[in-house]
Amino acid sequence: MKITIIGGGYVGLVTGACFADTGHDTTIIDVDPAKVAMINEKRAPIFEPGLESILLRAIGKNLRASLSYDSVGTSDLTFICVGTPPNDDGSANLSYIESASRSIGTALQKSTGFHVVVVKSTVPPGTTETVVCPAVLAFAHKTGDEIAFAMNPEFLREGRAIEDFRKPDRIVIGSSQPRAGDRVAEVYRTFSAPVVRTGLAAAEMIKYTSNAFLATKISFSNEIGNICKDLGIDVYEVMEGVGLDQRIGPKFLDAGAGFGGSCFPKDVSSLSVLAGRAGVDPKILRAVLDVNEEQPYRLVALLEKKTGNLSGKRIAVLGLAFKDNTDDVRDSRSIPVIQELLKKGARVIAFDPMAGQNMQKIFPAIEYAGSAGDALNGADGCLVMTEWPEFGRIDKEFELMAHRIVIEGRRILSWNGAEGICW
Ligand code: UDX
Repeated sequence: MKITIIGGGYVGLVTGACFADTGHDTTIIDVDPAKVAMINEKRAPIFEPGLESILLRAIGKNLRASLSYDSVGTSDLTFICVGTPPNDDGSANLSYIESASRSIGTALQKSTGFHVVVVKSTVPPGTTETVVCPAVLAFAHKTGDEIAFAMNPEFLREGRAIEDFRKPDRIVIGSSQPRAGDRVAEVYRTFSAPVVRTGLAAAEMIKYTSNAFLATKISFSNEIGNICKDLGIDVYEVMEGVGLDQRIGPKFLDAGAGFGGSCFPKDVSSLSVLAGRAGVDPKILRAVLDVNEEQPYRLVALLEKKTGNLSGKRIAVLGLAFKDNTDDVRDSRSIPVIQELLKKGARVIAFDPMAGQNMQKIFPAIEYAGSAGDALNGADGCLVMTEWPEFGRIDKEFELMAHRIVIEGRRILSWNGAEGICW
């Protein structure tokens, strides 16, 4: 099929590359000339394992990037994959969705044949029907007979996005009319995952609910972990026993410093705002966010208990990315931790295998080490903030510390001198 993707960020680029890899003829549209040029030069503007090898195979064949919306008019489907960043009140900012919808409409003015516009961005329920549909149809000067709408949320984890795209747990397709949904289903014809067909708003809600539930599992585990810590119980032993119950499941029960990233904090906040507007007090969602906000401060408080006054102390922060296998620092739990350490007068020496440069934009004045050993050399304390597997191999380097006080925010070390935030 001929597919156009609007937005060459994490979701758009991975989706476009994977559609091309599946055999579809795909054009990715982005407003950033540098990004478009990079993609066309077969270089990935983001770090995502496996992405560059798809670009190497597909660019010049059935995949290209462009600044212009020209391909929309000749495509069977257009996927909207632009960002929905949070407004100050936590609600989703839909301005990129609105401008993409207007541009798609304009591009479809002269097209003939049936076209399907698919929203992949995470949007509040009702957005596709009340924001995207009217804007596209008005700017295209067309009716719902010629253009139809679908909602097809993504469930891609950064760092594992290609794998998640190829082997999804399910494919959710919401549509305004069956033939729009049928066309989206056709795109995924070769996939073996179950397909869930719903209305537009239900598909939008499935995405929010999935992320909110996953975030709830993490905050729940963290709260249990905080209780366990006080009782001298290892929460990981507890959750192993709990997760074997098939109704609960073993995944997303890792207690620690809390969740970060571009989705969970933003989506739970946005859902809370929606709840408020619906007249529902979002007690659980608020608690999920509260627990998550507090974990980084618990970590620093535990460190302070061990080191004494942090003023003037040299503190190594191992891990800056919001999780392993990515250079992304958005809403990383390292950010409030570093802020708090600086507030208390500590000298921060940070190390991350990939995310140092991105964190430098947020904290230009702290020291960045080239290795874990360099960060630990002479340190009075250490906080482990990211579950990088290579941190599991740090051992002799801890001997370089002036005082061997190590607190783990993620259960990743095999060295046995550390204390965990919840264990
Ligand atoms: C998430 C969803 O998993 C994905 O389906 C959605 O579409 C986008 O948001 P992502 O943000 O890439 O993906 O990261 P994920 O692997 O889910 O981890 C999110 C955060 O939760 C990380 O900070 C991670 O360290 C933390 N986490 C995860 C825990 O603290 N404990 C866990 O058990 C699992």
